[in-house]
Amino acid sequence: MTIKIIGTGIGLPDKEVSNDELAALTGLDTSDEWIRTMTGIGYRRLCQTETLTDLSTTAARAALAEAELDGSQIDYLICSTVSPDTRTPSLACSVAERIKATCPAVDLNGACAGFIYAIDTAAALIAAGRAERILIVCSEKMSGLTDWTDRRTCVLFGDGSAACVVTAGNMLKYVHLQTQADSHVIRMDNGMGGNNPLARDQAPASFIHMEGQKVFKYAVNIIEAEVRRAFDVCDLTPESIDYYLLHQANLRIIDFAISRLKQPPEKFPTNIERFGNISSVSIPLLLHEMRQAGQVHPGDKFLLCAFGAGMTGGSAVLEWE
Ligand code: UT7
Repeated sequence: MTIKIIGTGIGLPDKEVSNDELAALTGLDTSDEWIRTMTGIGYRRLCQTETLTDLSTTAARAALAEAELDGSQIDYLICSTVSPDTRTPSLACSVAERIKATCPAVDLNGACAGFIYAIDTAAALIAAGRAERILIVCSEKMSGLTDWTDRRTCVLFGDGSAACVVTAGNMLKYVHLQTQADSHVIRMDNGMGGNNPLARDQAPASFIHMEGQKVFKYAVNIIEAEVRRAFDVCDLTPESIDYYLLHQANLRIIDFAISRLKQPPEKFPTNIERFGNISSVSIPLLLHEMRQAGQVHPGDKFLLCAFGAGMTGGSAVLEWE
């Protein structure tokens, strides 16, 4: 007995920004052609008036509605985020306030691999008998972290939220997490020295800095290692997986996985063209969209794989119930 997903939901900002609009808004020397060719991104949703708590609450309420639960009936709330509205209280506490949950509520920072980290935590809590109904909300407002004068990063990310409710079940067949610690390739200093007179040399707050090519290499290595490990441990073949839900960071990274695994591209659903990279939101958003489109059926096998700042990495095998 592990876990199963009994409800999913999403919350997205209203404003969709195309590559051309982004170039016009920022005045950067970039183009639709460069962004599409190098990343596969065509559009992203960006917050104007919405807070991350707003998006998260919308996603949470939708997932709870499908699970036929209200906030008071969940007994653990995990938010995966690197961009909470406030450093304290946590995003999870802000969402708990809105949905009237009184259970433990905590943020988890596994960067873009955060959904798989949250699934692993939820499975452990349920296995230990510490919780029965867990709400996971992956949410990012990347637009508040990126430097809008840096064309190498600001074109990549988007904002959004995707939630799911999990309970005891047999859907999760395998999960594995890893860290390949490198604190420089994706980094954002938060200026925690503040105005402490004893800590004047602390790095000031910064925007997200990313060494794109190094991250690209980490990404393809982590995907290959995680996928092969999942096949070995679960005695699976590439053919036996119905859908590969990979982190949506760059279409070229997904194309690499397709060529290595020699599987049809239809097995690799994507949403990066419409949403860009929304960190840990990308995979649960994909899953929700597939469910909405009637593409998910009992018995379907999914291999999830993600990588992110840290570098964190992880994979999971789900068999839909
Ligand atoms: O979710 C977190 C994980 N993140 C990732 O997985 C990201 C992984 N990395 C990548 O996806 C790629 O490295 C990028 C898409 C970010 C960049 O692609 P790249 O092939 O590594 O390009 P680059 O950074 O080496 O830049 C190549 C050229 C440079 O120009 P010069 O120096 O050769 O004249 C850049 O200045 O492209 C230029 N460039 C741009 N040009 C137009 C960089 N960004 C842009 C842009 N528009 N937005």
